[in-house]
Amino acid sequence: MIVKEEQLVWVKAVAYEELAVNTGRTVRYCGEEVALFKLSSGKLQAIQNRCPHKDGVLAEGIVCDEHVFCPLHDRKIHLPSGLVQLPDTGCVRTYTTKLEQGDVYIGFPKAQELAG
Ligand code: FES
Repeated sequence: MIVKEEQLVWVKAVAYEELAVNTGRTVRYCGEEVALFKLSSGKLQAIQNRCPHKDGVLAEGIVCDEHVFCPLHDRKIHLPSGLVQLPDTGCVRTYTTKLEQGDVYIGFPKAQELAG
């Protein structure tokens, strides 16, 4: 799903400095649960917090480069695209992030998008 910038609600998640490198943080907004990561490069990534296999909590997964490994059965998910890596299949939703005055914001689709 492609969401335009003006269709997003920016939600302040956490101060950038409070995020540990390669350690997931769960952020909730309007029934959505997001896994937020600060990679070793300093880049931010945010994805749906539930694995498409059997709902493993991805914020608890092990991060390696730009991937997170699901804590339940080790499926490998590419953080920028949300794609589950072969030989497994599936994908998770990705979210836009931005940094403003030291705080991390996550762009959630407006309510009607979430419902659809
Ligand atoms: S629940 Fe994630 S790999 Fe099974």
